[in-house]
Amino acid sequence: MKPKIFITRKIPSSALDKLALICEVDLWDEEEIPVPRDVLEQKVKDVEGLLCLLTEAIDQPLLEKAHRLKVVSNMAVGYNNIDVAEASSRAIMVTNTPGVLTETTADLTFALLMATSRRVVEASQYLRKGEWKTWSPMQLTGQDIYGATMGIIGMGRIGQALAKRAKGFDMRVLYFNRSRKLDAEQENGIEYAELDALLTQSDFVCLMTPLSDETYHLIGKRELELMKSTAVLINTARGGIVDEEALYDALTQGEIWAAGLDVFEQEPIRMDHPLLKLPNVVTLPHIGSASIRTRTLMAELAADNLIRGLLGQRPEHLVND
Ligand code: DGY
Repeated sequence: MKPKIFITRKIPSSALDKLALICEVDLWDEEEIPVPRDVLEQKVKDVEGLLCLLTEAIDQPLLEKAHRLKVVSNMAVGYNNIDVAEASSRAIMVTNTPGVLTETTADLTFALLMATSRRVVEASQYLRKGEWKTWSPMQLTGQDIYGATMGIIGMGRIGQALAKRAKGFDMRVLYFNRSRKLDAEQENGIEYAELDALLTQSDFVCLMTPLSDETYHLIGKRELELMKSTAVLINTARGGIVDEEALYDALTQGEIWAAGLDVFEQEPIRMDHPLLKLPNVVTLPHIGSASIRTRTLMAELAADNLIRGLLGQRPEHLVND
């Protein structure tokens, strides 16, 4: 008998086909509508495998209902949506999809950094609104990227890929991480700095760390006050790393110059959120890994992880301790 699985969203057919060979597949067949919580609660009662997205909270009350569940495969590198400790206590494997999205996410991070510092979105709107009357010396002037100092908080795979891009722009790169990355220091010419030193010295502060109890609101009022008044904050990691109220205050009081945000404390961000009213904020709808190739690879890797776990093998990307 094939093991039963539930997939919480429509995923690329190459991944679905892999799964259908081994499993009895049940799918929430929507692209833009997340599976309602009550449907998910019903579905988990009966399945051995769950392939889910970062939009689903795989928490204690849900896992309590999942008596047959053996593997939760998250189609994301981040897994703060899953209570891993609770899953482990129930001998449920949890997997993620690192590696395949590294370069794509670093690309988007750099794109957001450039768009924010050179006011690309604001300038495009300015033209389309018919406000462009003449060329003018200080019109829509931004911050230089070339030769500036980038501070990267979190020096994992994506942090290192971002550092390489920064080096191509002759930037000085500082990083803060739980542990020193001596190989990356040698290979990429990056320098370790304590958090406060990084915040004080950087022209760009890029958040590349997972969200955990340790990193929740890592960037708050105190940290924003330490940053340069010309600094740009870029977040393509998780919204919860930044205290958004403190960020709004810092941006409106001129404590920092601008912010580029791909992620938010609550997603989707509500349309009346004060941050959406600020011209010095560039916002994107969590598209860091959104290239066709990368999202397809993520779905395929999530499928492989799930299959391995269900076949009693150790999945390549197991996150349980
Ligand atoms: C992840 O994988 O964690 C990203 O946020 C989505 O690609």
